[in-house]
This record gives sequence, structure tokens and C-alpha cells, in this order.
Amino acid sequence: MVTKVIAHRGASKYAPENTMSAFELAVEMGADGIETDVQLTKDHIPVLIHDENVKRTTNGTGLISQLTFKQVKQLDAGAWFHPSFSGATILSLDEFLQWFANKSLYLNIELKNNKIEYKNIEAIVYEMLGHHKLLNRSTISTFNPNSIKRMKSYRKNLEVAFLTSKRYRNLVQLTKELGGNALHIKYRLLNRPLVEHIHQENMAVRVYTINKTSRMLNCYQHECDGIFTDIPDKAKHVRKLV
Ligand code: G3P
Ligand code: CA
Repeated sequence: MVTKVIAHRGASKYAPENTMSAFELAVEMGADGIETDVQLTKDHIPVLIHDENVKRTTNGTGLISQLTFKQVKQLDAGAWFHPSFSGATILSLDEFLQWFANKSLYLNIELKNNKIEYKNIEAIVYEMLGHHKLLNRSTISTFNPNSIKRMKSYRKNLEVAFLTSKRYRNLVQLTKELGGNALHIKYRLLNRPLVEHIHQENMAVRVYTINKTSRMLNCYQHECDGIFTDIPDKAKHVRKLV
């Protein structure tokens, strides 16, 4: 099994996370897939941003949920990272998928709905992925257990991952009960018996966020299905060493 190298928020070590520059760089570096984060604006437009507040990654302040899409589009999402990226904007999910649809890459959309339970985010994202014909090569993931069942109700064979950093006693059973069919786990949870158990249940396991060589090697040797990394060029190089 070849572990997929999934660019975490794009090639986010080299370019501002979740911007077009970071995604384009991920493709140039030969990433096998892209991971991104979705939240909803005040007028219910899905946009790509990790934090609930725009403060860290733009020149603005306030919650995404309190800003209209028009207001969000006026923010600079690149200058905080480096002046050479100034002018970058927060992307709508639709803009991103239009660009992504003709790339033959794997996609992971993370619903950022564990702190704010955005109403209908599952339906909005599901419809948009369907519109761009991307349901067959995408995984929807979430830290919110309630969201998994809602997502699954739209399409039985959609891959929906439970995202977690917590040490549950029976994580695999819990994921099945929630209706999930993949696990996206923090590195500290990784061990060989867990990977084997997940695979025995025909589920995929992907690990975040893997930037150190030793951790990359460990994930590859454990035959994880994917790693989320900010440094896809390095992860591809290390993969050749296994
Ligand atoms: O999807 C894996 C990883 O992105 C989850 O954590 O905080 O980087 O979104 P975070
Ligand atoms: Ca994420």
C-alpha cells in the first residue's frame, strides 16, 4: 500500500494556508491530495479558512460567521505570511472546486463545525461536491460526531471520516456507531494494532499533521492510507526511502 501524501491546507509551509498559492504549489510538488477547511459566512457561503476568526490569517478581525461573503472577499489572506503573497483572498469552496475538478487528486474537505455548528453545512458541502462531480474521490471529515450521521444520510457510500485527537477506549467501534468509514487521527494515537484494526474493518486511516522525517517514516511503515503534511515535497522524498 502506498501512503498518500496529502497537502495540509495546501503546501502551507511555503505559502499562506488555504490560498490558491498553497494549493497550486501542492500540485507542483506532486502531492497525491489536498486537505482544506470549510466554514460558512454570515450569508451561508462555504469558504476555506481554518480558524473561526479571520484574525490570524488575514488583515481583518471578527468571526467568519458574522461576515458576509462580500466582506470576506475584501480581506487580504496572504500578507500575514509574507508580503510577496499580499492580494491573496479567502476562497469560496466553489472557486476552489472549479480549479480542483480537472486535477486527478484526492480531496479531503474538513467541516470546521466542532466549535460553531453551522446550520446545513453538510447539505451545502455535499451539494457542491456533487455539482463538481467530486463525491467519488473525496472524504468529508469532522471532529463533530453529530455531523457524521447527517453527512452519511445524503449518500451511503460517501467516505466520511471521524477526526480525533482523543484516546477513546474503542475508537474503531465508536466510529462505526457514528456511521463513519474512515479515521483521521492525530499522530500521538498511531500504533500498529490500531492501524490493523481499522483496516480489518475496511476503513481508511490517515494521520495529521506529519512534518518530521521520523514521523513520516513511521506512518509509511505502518501502511497508513494517508498523511497530512505542510511539506509535501519532503514527504514525497522521504516516501522513496522506505
Ligand atoms: O484534517 C486533519 C487536520 O487538518 C485536523 O486538524 O486543526 O489542522 O484542521 P487542523
Ligand atoms: Ca484541517
